[in-house]
Amino acid sequence: MKVLIVGSGGREHALAWKIAQSPQLTKLYAAPGSAGIAQLAECVPLKADDLEGLAAFAHREAIDLTVVGPEAPLALGIVDRFEKEGLKIFGPSREAAQLEASKAFAKNRMNQFGIPTARHEVFTNINEAKHYVIEAEMPLVIKADGLAAGKGVVICRNAQEAVEALSSMMTQQTFGAAGSKVVIEECLEGEEFSVLAVTDGERILPLASAQDHKRAYDYDRGPNTGGMGAYSPCPQVSEERFQEIVNLVIRPMVDGLRKSGILFRGILYAGIMMTKEGPYVLEYNVRFGDPEAQAILPRLKSDLLQIMIEAAEGRLQIPALEWHDKSCLTVVLASGGYPGHYKKQIPITGLDSAQAADSACVFHAGTARDSAGKWVTDGGRILAVSGWGETLKSAYDHAYQAIEKIKAEGSFYRRDIGKRALEVYR
Ligand code: AMP
Ligand code: GLY
Repeated sequence: MKVLIVGSGGREHALAWKIAQSPQLTKLYAAPGSAGIAQLAECVPLKADDLEGLAAFAHREAIDLTVVGPEAPLALGIVDRFEKEGLKIFGPSREAAQLEASKAFAKNRMNQFGIPTARHEVFTNINEAKHYVIEAEMPLVIKADGLAAGKGVVICRNAQEAVEALSSMMTQQTFGAAGSKVVIEECLEGEEFSVLAVTDGERILPLASAQDHKRAYDYDRGPNTGGMGAYSPCPQVSEERFQEIVNLVIRPMVDGLRKSGILFRGILYAGIMMTKEGPYVLEYNVRFGDPEAQAILPRLKSDLLQIMIEAAEGRLQIPALEWHDKSCLTVVLASGGYPGHYKKQIPITGLDSAQAADSACVFHAGTARDSAGKWVTDGGRILAVSGWGETLKSAYDHAYQAIEKIKAEGSFYRRDIGKRALEVYR
C-alpha cells in the first residue's frame, strides 16, 4: 500500500515512524516532509496547503491513502477535494474541521450538544466587546476565532488587559483575519489534559490521554509555545474515568455533528480542564497534537495504517486498539529565543547516540542537513525525544538520558516534563 503523509513537523515524523511499521506499507511519501522524515519516506517538494499539487501527485503515484498531519490543509478542504476526485484520505472534511478552525463554531456546537464548556459570548464589534469586558467579572479569557497556531488566546486579569487584548486582536489584527471575530469566556481553573479518539463519523475508538506542556520554561513559566513536552497516558485519569470523559466530550460531538449532516472522520482531540465541577472542554483539535502524537504513537501496538484506512472508508471494524503496557514521555528541544526570534543553521551533535537507545526515539521537527550532510537546526522546535518504560518514571529517565546527549548551541528544553504527575504517581 502506498501512503502519502502531508506535513513536515515532529508529529508527522512520528506518524511516518508508526506507519512505516505497518506490514501493509509498500511505499511511504511525505509532502513536504523534512530531512528527519526523509530517513523513512521519500519527500516530495509540495507544500501542505497546495491542494491541487497534492491531489495531482496522489493520482500520478496511485497513492492508496493520504494522511493529513496539520490543521491548515484540513480547514482548506483537502479532504473534500480528494474525496471528490476519488482519492482516499484520512481526516475530517472542511466543514467538520470548523471545530478547530472556528472557536465560535465549536462553542455553539458544544452548547447545542450539551458538552460542558466555559460560558462564552461571541463578538465581531469591538465597541460591544469592550463594553462587555468592562462590566464582566475577571479574570476572563479572550480568544481569536480563527486559526492562530495556538497563540490566539489571552487570559486577562483585569479590564485594562482585556481592552488591550481586544484592540490587539480586532484593530491591530495581530492574528490577521483570525481575530476579526472573538470569543470571550469565563476563566476555568484546574489541571489540563487531552483526550484523543479516532472516529469514522459513527464508531469511536478512544486513543489515549496525554498532557502537553505549553509554556516555554520550567514550572509553567514564560510564553506559550506550540508545546514543549508531553506524556501519555495521564495517571491522573484512570481508564474508567477516561472512558467516561470520552462519553461526555467525544461521543456527543461525533453523534451531534452526524445528526446535523456533518460526518467527522479522523482524529478528534479534546483539550480538557479538570475543574472542581468536573471536566470542561477548552477546545477541540481535528488532528493529532504535536507533541502529543510523539508520546502516544510509541505506545500503540495496533496497526495505525489499518485503523486509518477503515476510518477513511467509514467502516471502523477493529473492536479496540491494542497498547503496549508502558508509559511514554516526550521532551522538546527548542532553539534559543523560541517562541520569539531564534537563529537557524546551528550544528546539532549527538543524534546518533541518542537514537541508539532502545527505549527512546528522536522525532525531528525543525532540522535540516547542511551541504556536507551534517544535521543543523532549522526551526523553533528542533526535535522531540520520546522515552518509554514500564512506569512514567522510567519513561522520564529514558527521555532525559537520550536528550542530554544532543547538543545544539543555545538550545534549551524543559526539565520538568511530567514532574507534577510523577510527584503524585511514581
Ligand atoms: P485553546 O487554544 O482554546 O486550547 O487555549 C490555549 C490555552 O489557553 C489552553 O491550553 C489553556 O491553558 C488556556 N485556556 C483556554 N481557555 C481557557 C479557559 N476558559 N480558562 C482557563 N484557561 C483557558
Ligand atoms: N500540542 C497542542 C496542539 O497540538 O494543539
